[in-house]
Amino acid sequence: MTLELTPTPLPTQAPTRPGHGDAFTDHMVTLAWNPVDGWHDRRVGPLTALPLHPATIGLHYAQVIFEGLKAHRQVDGSVAVFRPDRNATRFRASARRLEMPELPEELFLAAVDDLVGLDQHLLSDDPDLSIYLRPLMFATEPNLMLRPSGEYLFLLMAFVAGGFFGTDPFAPVSVLVGRTHTRAVPGGTGDVKCAANYGPSFVAQRLAREAGCQQVVWLDALERRWIEEMGGMNMFFVRQGASGPEVVTPALTGTLLPGVTRDSLLTLAAGLGYPVSEERVSVDQWREESLSGRITETFACGTAAVVTPVGRVHDTDGHWLIGNGTPGPVTTALRKALVDVQHGRTPAPEGWLRPI
Ligand code: COI
Repeated sequence: MTLELTPTPLPTQAPTRPGHGDAFTDHMVTLAWNPVDGWHDRRVGPLTALPLHPATIGLHYAQVIFEGLKAHRQVDGSVAVFRPDRNATRFRASARRLEMPELPEELFLAAVDDLVGLDQHLLSDDPDLSIYLRPLMFATEPNLMLRPSGEYLFLLMAFVAGGFFGTDPFAPVSVLVGRTHTRAVPGGTGDVKCAANYGPSFVAQRLAREAGCQQVVWLDALERRWIEEMGGMNMFFVRQGASGPEVVTPALTGTLLPGVTRDSLLTLAAGLGYPVSEERVSVDQWREESLSGRITETFACGTAAVVTPVGRVHDTDGHWLIGNGTPGPVTTALRKALVDVQHGRTPAPEGWLRPI
């Protein structure tokens, strides 16, 4: 392993109100792979531009996967990373789907430890800020034959993250039901985290913005009625059952990303005493039950979005409010439970926090 510190370090704890993905930290970790040496040439150095041959396979054929995870300032002043082992596991699943080499968990975690260890001083104790870690792996061989690359680069970079949706991290968003485009198809790549899932979503995001909404809600490709995800996030619904609120999220049918935040919220919701279920929810059911008062809350979740309430839904033939359009009590309680665990304010389930 080689270590080179940046000659131009950022001032400690800057900036105070970053956007999402612009306040990069000082360093990055890189690790190369080829069939002869396996994973080799591990470097921790300044965040810098990469020299790329124009025929780099990843640029042409989208052999590119990534992850998103966060480090949080703890109440005792230390820093801990939230469930990095889950991201390491999903990164390997994404690699298998894209015919890429799997990065062993210990190398993934060592990169996380090294980068957060070096750059953690840039994270203030503002609980709305975190260090967002972006692991990336892409095909680096310069060759335009249509086949998997023989060389890869793993890279870990980071930025100081504020709210994904602006300065108020809990402001309800408005969403457009996506009727024109599809995020994922059976047998496709919807259940892994590859770059090619994201670029094609931008046109639907633009249509949502043009309809006055902040996000698109993705429906299934075959029947065009089952709710799958929202933008790049998983979704949850709060339904009034016979004995109180129940927490429901769309089942992992193979076209949804198995989110780490989604999984964490299912555990935390059950711990708070809510019945939880993973089932298919149709857009008709969402609308009818929102209007009848059976569904009282809807929220999106993800590493970037944390827990983001949905206030208003637009479809081709009208719109409806979720509850009264403001964050509901279950959404509020679940967000608090998650954030408290991430910051060490309440005990985390075994293995959820990796201290740095
Ligand atoms: C995340 O929530 O971390 C994501 O990866 C979604 C998007 C910001 C790319």
